[in-house]
Amino acid sequence: MAGITDYPLRSIVREFGAGLTVSEMVSSQALVHDNLRSLTMIRTAKEESPLAVQIFGSDPGTMSRAAKIAESLGATIVDINMGCPQHKVVKSGAGADLMRNELLAARLIEGVVKAISIPVSVKIRLGWDHRSINASRIAKVAQDSGASLVTVHARTRSQMFSGKADWSAIREIKNAVSIPVIANGDIQGPKDARLCLEVSGADGIMIGRGVLGRPWIFEQILYFLKTGNDKGAPGIEDQYGVAKRHLEYLIDFYGLSRGLLLSKRHLAYYSRGLRGSAVFREALNYTKTANELKRLLICLYETQGPWRPIPNPGDSSTITGS
Ligand SMILES: Cc1cc2nc3c(=O)[nH]c(=O)nc-3n(C[C@H](O)[C@H](O)[C@H](O)COP(=O)(O)O)c2cc1C
Repeated sequence: MAGITDYPLRSIVREFGAGLTVSEMVSSQALVHDNLRSLTMIRTAKEESPLAVQIFGSDPGTMSRAAKIAESLGATIVDINMGCPQHKVVKSGAGADLMRNELLAARLIEGVVKAISIPVSVKIRLGWDHRSINASRIAKVAQDSGASLVTVHARTRSQMFSGKADWSAIREIKNAVSIPVIANGDIQGPKDARLCLEVSGADGIMIGRGVLGRPWIFEQILYFLKTGNDKGAPGIEDQYGVAKRHLEYLIDFYGLSRGLLLSKRHLAYYSRGLRGSAVFREALNYTKTANELKRLLICLYETQGPWRPIPNPGDSSTITGS
């Protein structure tokens, strides 16, 4: 997810059992022009495997060059975005617009597959709109062009993010291809995960917005699928630990100033549903230093119940900087 699934978030969800993480989508044009921001989006480490780096664009040559760059920088899989509904992306023929241009889609996937030696996956939607549902055909095109996996966000482009994802529509796609099909859209917890797998017949599921402020969703889903029992959310002290760690990862990765800025959005998500979260979110706007943010975070979690995070001066994970 653009603006969300950066290295720090991917590290956190991996700790909770996510089996495959996907980078933010990066522009193939920007990658081939060495754009620093795009390179940061796909920065990874040896431990982060498997990692799919998602690229978007509509020019087969540029996409192939971008895929090679992604491979050389440590991607395990290159994912081609054919589902992004945003006007600025589709107007250039990229994202979901590729679902309206099967020939170009085929050429583009084939080119990327030939250019690299790691697997290629494709992320699609059900179609452009309800009158042009063609996900099964596009999935077949992807398979015939050499893709190893497709992920389906079970909405059309015109739906953007409205309505409900239609998991049952994925079954037809699953029947049309022999490569693995991953279901995506509106999976917000363990019961959704099980129902989606049952209804769609998919080989796996992808979680998007469900991770926001709840990266432990993976652990909960895995536990539920294995045992049929509800693991529940981690205790409040553990939730504090995760939020604090996420803040630290962000500062480590982006540096103090950008790390602090980006952390506010995530911390606001962590606070959802907690006592005093509205006040916490308001106060976030006024915090300027890491220590202020850390104190505010402690304050939020202390408000939830009888525990005190005792600061340990020797703890190397203590947030530094001001
Ligand atoms: C803020 C935001 C950014 C997103 N960025 C991307 C992206 O870069 N690439 C992509 O394939 N999908 C992107 N998506 C779509 C999600 O991956 C996912 O398909 C969609 O949100 C439905 O799944 P969910 O209900 O689990 O979130 C984005 C969604 C959101 C809300």
